[in-house]
Amino acid sequence: MACEIKTWLMVLILIFSANYLQQFVNGKSQVPCLFIFGDSLSDSGNNNNLPTSAKSNYKPYGIDFPMGPTGRFTNGRTSIDIITQLLGFEKFIPPFANINGSDILKGVNYASGAAGIRIETSITTGFVISLGLQLENHKVIVSRIASRLEGIDKAQEYLSKCLYYVNIGSNDYINNYFRPQFYPTSQIYSPEQYAEALIQELSLNLLTLHDIGARKYVLVGLGLLGCTPSAIFTHGTNGSCVDEENAPALIFNFKLKFLVDHFNNKFSADSKFIFVNTTLESDAQNSDGFLVSNVPCCPSGCIPDERPCYNRSEYAFWDEVHPTEASNQLYAIRSYNSHNSGFTYPMDIKNLVEQEIEMELDFTSQLSASS
Ligand SMILES: *[C@@H]1O[C@H](CO)[C@@H](O)[C@H](O)[C@H]1NC(C)=O
Ligand SMILES: *[C@@H]1O[C@H](CO)[C@@H](O)[C@H](O)[C@H]1NC(C)=O
Ligand SMILES: *[C@@H]1O[C@H](CO)[C@@H](O)[C@H](O)[C@H]1NC(C)=O
Ligand SMILES: *[C@@H]1O[C@H](CO)[C@@H](O)[C@H](O)[C@H]1NC(C)=O
Repeated sequence: MACEIKTWLMVLILIFSANYLQQFVNGKSQVPCLFIFGDSLSDSGNNNNLPTSAKSNYKPYGIDFPMGPTGRFTNGRTSIDIITQLLGFEKFIPPFANINGSDILKGVNYASGAAGIRIETSITTGFVISLGLQLENHKVIVSRIASRLEGIDKAQEYLSKCLYYVNIGSNDYINNYFRPQFYPTSQIYSPEQYAEALIQELSLNLLTLHDIGARKYVLVGLGLLGCTPSAIFTHGTNGSCVDEENAPALIFNFKLKFLVDHFNNKFSADSKFIFVNTTLESDAQNSDGFLVSNVPCCPSGCIPDERPCYNRSEYAFWDEVHPTEASNQLYAIRSYNSHNSGFTYPMDIKNLVEQEIEMELDFTSQLSASS
């Protein structure tokens, strides 16, 4: 009997995955629009034509993606791609660099590989779009949406129903704080002070986003930065995580979670913020079905035309810092539908999109100032 139930459960799970994950759902999406801010964890092609070394629009990137290499920094879909599908969108959200002909009313992806909260973070990799510039790009889109919808009021009402996904900050550590040979931040700031400075800057950006209509926010915390193959290799720890790199990122996460509480109180019924914790300890230690979690699927880190591992779903990491699609799937499903407040706080994305928002502020002045 127990065995039969188990088999049926497996069948249901398979049907569920087939419907929700392998293809797009037909019908209405749960939010009319999705705007994405972030770095390489979410980029879907914004860096392709930028003067930067942070690119991934070549093989073997995209080996498991229907359109091949697109500028996604993984073998298949990113986490936010999968969340987009779980939300019922019929297409992926187009990158800002490539919105010509796309329906901007459904949302835009501004994320740029190597980008940070701090503008100087990406300097060593060339020009990419830092968080502040991503917001400037969003202002352009908001103005276009306002003219499409024939009025600020209608645009404001429309934009308040969208979901705003912000997943950024890893590079402010990996490419900045942890690289004293290029940046002085680790001499200037203690880990506590650095996290505070990042959160301050992020919160100013979130207030700007609020001024131009955002009401429902998903703020994603940092992963275990000391457990990437790159950190493990650089520190020569023979496969174990680097605690000195995990600890500063965890401080950032606690402050981000605190910011979520702060904003939820400050804005009350006007806006809703959630925090997504991507550092479940189990992820670090070969569990969750990943047999290999401390070396990447590409032995050389996915250089052009490199031959990647065969069993990609057994690897947590695709290249030296980026998760495989299999890991992304795990994060996406947990962010979307998790009853565990250790993972999504104070609610999951599924609940967030069902929240009613009571608008209090008028953003007419900000919008006309930026257009
Ligand atoms: C956008 O598409 C139109 C029509 O397909 C084309 O004429 C125009 O040059 C494109 N603009 C850009 C910036 O690619
Ligand atoms: C590294 O780890 C492997 C497997 O856990 C172990 O066999 C080996 O002795 C370790 N090497 C060093 C230098 O600690
Ligand atoms: C995230 O989850 C881990 C593992 O459950 C936990 O130790 C940590 O405190 C959580 N972080 C936050 C900011 O809640
Ligand atoms: C792929 O995974 C299966 C099952 O875990 C294993 O038997 C097989 O040896 C793996 N193949 C390669 C090439 O790693």
